[in-house]
Amino acid sequence: MDVRWIEIQPPKLGPRFSVLSLISTVLLGAWSTQALEMIVGKTPSLVAVNGSTVMLPCKYESCVGIDRLYFNWQFNNNGTMQKVCESVIASAEVEPDVKIFRDRVEFIGKNVKGNVSILLWNITFEDGGLYTCFGRNPKEHYKNHSAIFELLVVEELKVVDKTVTIIIASAVGGAIALLMGFMLLKNFTLFVLSKLEEKNKECLVTSSGIDNTENGLSGSKADSKPTPKKK
Ligand SMILES: *[C@@H]1O[C@H](CO)[C@@H](O)[C@H](O)[C@H]1NC(C)=O
Ligand SMILES: *[C@@H]1O[C@H](CO)[C@@H](O)[C@H](O)[C@H]1NC(C)=O
Ligand SMILES: *[C@@H]1O[C@H](CO)[C@@H](O)[C@H](O)[C@H]1NC(C)=O
Ligand SMILES: *[C@@H]1O[C@H](CO)[C@@H](O)[C@H](O)[C@H]1NC(C)=O
Ligand SMILES: *[C@@H]1O[C@H](CO)[C@@H](O)[C@H](O)[C@H]1NC(C)=O
Repeated sequence: MDVRWIEIQPPKLGPRFSVLSLISTVLLGAWSTQALEMIVGKTPSLVAVNGSTVMLPCKYESCVGIDRLYFNWQFNNNGTMQKVCESVIASAEVEPDVKIFRDRVEFIGKNVKGNVSILLWNITFEDGGLYTCFGRNPKEHYKNHSAIFELLVVEELKVVDKTVTIIIASAVGGAIALLMGFMLLKNFTLFVLSKLEEKNKECLVTSSGIDNTENGLSGSKADSKPTPKKK
């Protein structure tokens, strides 16, 4: 069955990717009635140390094409949305003039393949929170589209948490494996015991009946056995 998948796919894609992309294509096809999409990536969050410089990723994609696309980045400051930057993108691949309203922000996406990512320089704890990447395309009746990216600012990156998670995960995994092993062993033991029992019965029956070991055909065994059954 794997062979079938490999034959169908385009050469550069692995079987798994192909299945996944097929599924997502079907799902997206069913879901997306929207032409424009703002994308912040598969993991829309980042944990960073204060003082570091981070990128808030975002790009737009549109199947109808763009024309004077308005976009901005907003920061959710405890419930009130503050504009970080904004611009109107005349057309694809044209670098827009971006207005910046916040300190230490740089527009680095440059509209390359819809890239509207920004850079936050020397982040402080106040920079932590939710950032919304917003877009509106006049080509589709000014419908709003957005995606949210979360920035967590910490004093230091904790590696311990991960280790604890791994320990817990492996402990749980180990326990499950042990349990499964135990159950398998139990079932296996029962199976062996039942087989032994069967064999014992068989041996008793066979020894009292016709000796059929000489012809060497296992299929003939059952045929040659009816004698002891008639009691
Ligand atoms: C990060 O914050 C801590 C605690 O406020 C401070 O001691 C440290 O100097 C800061 N680091 C940077 C790179 O700003
Ligand atoms: C956020 O808002 C809540 C309630 O509106 C308030 O109690 C809290 O002090 C605010 N936090 C900051 C950091 O402004
Ligand atoms: C970031 O911090 C460095 C070192 O403190 C400084 O040289 C630089 O100008 C800062 N950049 C911005 C955009 O504030
Ligand atoms: C957007 O541009 C930045 C800066 O060139 C780059 O680091 C990032 O990978 C780009 N993102 C995408 C999705 O192309
Ligand atoms: C789109 O967002 C703007 C604010 O940027 C708002 O005024 C407008 O009502 C929104 N439109 C829709 C259809 O949600």
